[in-house]
Amino acid sequence: MKILVTGSNGLVGSYVVQQLLDAGHTVFASSRMPDLSAFDGRPGYRFVQMDFTDPYALDAAFEAIQPEVVVHGGAMSKPDDCEKDQAEAYKINTVGTVQLLLNAAAHRSFFVFLSTDFIFNGQGGMHTENDPAGPLSYYGRTKLEAEEAVREYEYPWAIVRTVFVYGKPLYGRDCFVTMISKKIRNREAYRVVNDQERTPTYAGDLAKGIAAIIEKKATGIFHLCGEDQLSPYGMATRVAAYLGLDAPLLEPVTTASLNALARRPLKSGLDISRAKQVLGYAPVSFREGLEKTLGG
Ligand SMILES: NC(=O)c1ccc[n+]([C@@H]2O[C@H](COP(=O)([O-])OP(=O)(O)OC[C@H]3O[C@@H](n4cnc5c(N)ncnc54)[C@H](OP(=O)(O)O)[C@@H]3O)[C@@H](O)[C@H]2O)c1
Repeated sequence: MKILVTGSNGLVGSYVVQQLLDAGHTVFASSRMPDLSAFDGRPGYRFVQMDFTDPYALDAAFEAIQPEVVVHGGAMSKPDDCEKDQAEAYKINTVGTVQLLLNAAAHRSFFVFLSTDFIFNGQGGMHTENDPAGPLSYYGRTKLEAEEAVREYEYPWAIVRTVFVYGKPLYGRDCFVTMISKKIRNREAYRVVNDQERTPTYAGDLAKGIAAIIEKKATGIFHLCGEDQLSPYGMATRVAAYLGLDAPLLEPVTTASLNALARRPLKSGLDISRAKQVLGYAPVSFREGLEKTLGG
C-alpha cells in the first residue's frame, strides 16, 4: 500500500516508517525539516519535506502521492511549548489535522491519527476508549479537537491514543529512558516526578499496533501503550537497576514543585483490552522495553 506518514523525523514516526517498510509498504515519510533518517535507498522509501499547515504544499503532495493510507503523527508534541505558544499549537495540532483530513477525503484515504492520554484529566486512570475526555492542558485540548475532526471524517479512520513513548532513538534524538540513562551514568543530579502515573509505551510496540490497524483496516479508537503502571521516577529507578548502577542523585519530586507551564494528568494510564482483542496487540513489559532500548 502507498502510505503517507507525517512526523517521520519524530520518535513515533521513525518507528512507524521502519515497521511499514519492513512490512513491504511504499512509505512516503514526511517532516517539516530535511530527512533525518537512514532509510534513503531502501526499497519503497520516499521522503517528502513539507509543512502540513501549508495548504498548497499539502495539495501538491496528495496529488503526487495519492495515498491509500495516511498516518498522521506530526504534531507540536511538547505540552509546555503548546501552553507557551497556543496559536502555533492550535495551527499545527488542530488546523493542520483538519487540512490533512480535507486532502485525505479527496483521495478516500484511510486516516490514522496519533493522539494522547493527555486528553484525559487523570483522575480516573486506566481509561478505556469511551471514557469522557477532560484535558487539563492546551496540548490536550488541541489534540482532542483534532480527534473530534477525525471522528467526522467520512471515510474509514482510526484514532490511536498512546502514552509516554520510549525506544532506542533511530535518528539520535534522546527519549526519556536514554536521557535518564545518561544522567545516571554521568552521575548528574536530576529531579524526576514521582506522583504521576503512566503506562509507558515501547515505540516498537506502538508501530506494530499501527501496522496491524492498517492491515486489518480496523476503525475507531484504540489505546496502544504498555501495561506496567509506573511514575517517571519509578521508570528512572528501573533504568538504574537495569544498568546495575546506584542513582543517589535522582531526586523524586511532586508535580506541583516543578511549576511546569502545562498541567499534567496525575493518573493517566490507558486500558488496552480493545487493542488486544481486535489487533492481537501484545506489548512488551517495561523491563523488556529497557532491554530493547538500552541493550546491545
Ligand atoms: N512521544 C510521546 O510520549 C507521545 C505520547 C502521546 C502521544 N504522542 C503523539 O504521537 C505523535 C508523535 O509524537 P513524537 O513524540 O514522535 O513527536 P516528536 O518527536 O516531537 O515529532 C513530531 C514530528 O512532527 C513534525 N512536525 C511538527 N510540526 C509540523 C508541521 N507543521 N509540518 C510538518 N511536520 C511537522 C516534526 O517535524 P520536524 O522535526 O521535521 O520539524 C516531527 O517530525 C504526536 O501526535 C504526539 O501528540 C506522543
